[in-house]
Amino acid sequence: METVLSGIRSTGNLHLGNYFGAVTNFVKMQKDYNCYFFVADLHSLTTYPKPGDLHANVRAVLAEYLAAGIDPEQSTLYVQSDVPEISELYLLLNMNAYMGELERTTTFKDKIRTQPENVNAGLLTYPVLMAADIIIHRAHKVPVGKDQEQNLEMTRKFAKRFNSMYGVEYFHMPEPFNFGKALLKVPGLDGQGKMGKTSGNGIYLVDEPEAIRKKVMRAVTDAGPTKENQEMTEPIANLFTLMDIVSTKDTVSHFREQYNTCQIRYGDMKKQLAEDIIMVTTPLREKINEILADDAYIRKAVALGREKARASASKTLKEVREIIGFRPF
Ligand code: TYM
Repeated sequence: METVLSGIRSTGNLHLGNYFGAVTNFVKMQKDYNCYFFVADLHSLTTYPKPGDLHANVRAVLAEYLAAGIDPEQSTLYVQSDVPEISELYLLLNMNAYMGELERTTTFKDKIRTQPENVNAGLLTYPVLMAADIIIHRAHKVPVGKDQEQNLEMTRKFAKRFNSMYGVEYFHMPEPFNFGKALLKVPGLDGQGKMGKTSGNGIYLVDEPEAIRKKVMRAVTDAGPTKENQEMTEPIANLFTLMDIVSTKDTVSHFREQYNTCQIRYGDMKKQLAEDIIMVTTPLREKINEILADDAYIRKAVALGREKARASASKTLKEVREIIGFRPF
């Protein structure tokens, strides 16, 4: 059976981008694959979370994973920092990762631009840690959104380099996976770019209906089409993309028709979009809150996951150490 692996950084609650970009796939995959899902809390250290917030953030993401339908018995659900083997593999891979290629990574270049006051080595080697996350379980498939495509390309590069350096066929070349469909980029509500945890443009699974209505009604639009079948500006195309994800086909065609015939009222469209988002998030929010109140369940799930993840990770690390040439005395 092939192995699937994916992770989510513990830098905040899950938004619709995380959910539709990756998590809905996780849930679908459990039946057909050997699945590893984890909370990337080491990765979150690049932005210096306060010690008091770190644990609560990890707990929140765990509850959200579980509420979305991950079964901790069937899959392996764990916290990255619970598996020290990942950090050791990261160290080993760092020896064969080159400054130039790391500096050229788009996400790194973005960080330099957006947070020039905090360009730490953790940011530079972020793709190496991500590669360690993936290949520690020798994963074949990685369900991710479009934004992680380049990081996966780097993972394949590091895996391939390890194989050729030691003349082995040990690591697989992990591929991004969305059941044969294109990877998703869920847009934000600010008219440009993707929905992100730190961009202030997101709708979170735990948002109350009233908060969702407010956010959607404030979403950026334009002055409206002035001729039939006019090409859409980015803010409007983004609203339609969100609608494609959460609304029925009929609803989407209705508003597309209204747009194409210049009759659209963005207020009406937003009202409908907000209600359709609420339909998706309400059962999830209720389940998340239920799980957050159940400490014993979360504790049990994490303990089980830690044990399964360490069993798999330590096997890989032992083999990697042997390949590299570390031998017991
Ligand atoms: P993170 O925490 O930013 O996002 C988690 C997952 O959600 C997807 N995603 C999106 N998909 C579509 N549209 C969006 N607007 C959107 N925003 C986020 C991401 O593609 C991702 O699948 N580096 C990773 C975490 C990570 C990881 C890994 C993932 C660490 N190690 C190993 C896979 C495998 C990250 O920051 O994702």
